[in-house]
Amino acid sequence: MIQVENLYKELGSKPVLKGLSFEVNDGETFVVIGKSGSGKSVLLKHLIGLLKADSGKVMIDGENIGALSFKELQRVRQKIGMVFQSGALFDSMSVGENIALALRSKEEFTKWEIKEKVKEALEIVDLAEAADLMPSELSGGMKKRAGFARAIALDPQYMLYDEPTTGLDPVMTDMINRLMLKFKQQKEITSVIVTHELRIVHDVADRVLLLNEGEVAFNGLPAEIEKSEDPVVRQFMTGDSTLAIGEKI
Ligand SMILES: Nc1ncnc2c1ncn2[C@@H]1O[C@H](COP(=O)(O)OP(=O)(O)OP(=O)(O)O)[C@@H](O)[C@H]1O
Ligand SMILES: [Mg+2]
Repeated sequence: MIQVENLYKELGSKPVLKGLSFEVNDGETFVVIGKSGSGKSVLLKHLIGLLKADSGKVMIDGENIGALSFKELQRVRQKIGMVFQSGALFDSMSVGENIALALRSKEEFTKWEIKEKVKEALEIVDLAEAADLMPSELSGGMKKRAGFARAIALDPQYMLYDEPTTGLDPVMTDMINRLMLKFKQQKEITSVIVTHELRIVHDVADRVLLLNEGEVAFNGLPAEIEKSEDPVVRQFMTGDSTLAIGEKI
């Protein structure tokens, strides 16, 4: 399981995460929502040790990842697949090579096994035809799906998704939502999904956390957040900008 205890982080001398605490249980699909700039991507980077907390802890299966050596952290990271907001592919390699590289860093697969795993991962996201394309030749949505394929090819215990469906068309969004559900059901993957798309909360969340200016504004069931009377929650759920800036426009 993932446990976050009193996580605090300043970036550019500005507090971004202001003492967050929550837990993600095994097998759970945990969705973090919040407006742009609320600290969602920064939070996700702490869960995989790309950023280190100023204070507080991130525990993965009982290990405080902020206290691990680089080598120990690499071992924990093997359990985690991450889908970055922008895809984060290497521009100088084809889509297939990007996935193969990730596989080679994990364990000793034969060339044939790697080829099969690359093919299978690309088929899952409906990109079988794109294996030989370079990232610059892909649309935004294709890049996103390629990043998805790379993470899932590693067969992780945890998946972290940063805006997995933002910028995708409604059909592709539905496909990605279904995939996330399938991974949960068939592979028992524990997921943390960061998004500002409420459809994900509705379609795949077991639990939802609303991040507001680096603090937890809500942590509970999707059905509860829809009924919440809290003004910060209401503003996000209804998308009513007048609740934030008044009737200026
Ligand atoms: N490396 C960095 N250095 C300085 N400030 C940073 C850095 N990374 C993020 N920030 C700041 O932290 C805040 C939160 O950023 P973050 O990327 O987590 O937002 P977000 O909730 O993911 O937004 P979005 O929905 O737009 O992706 C922002 O004010 C951002 O400017
Ligand atoms: Mg972000």
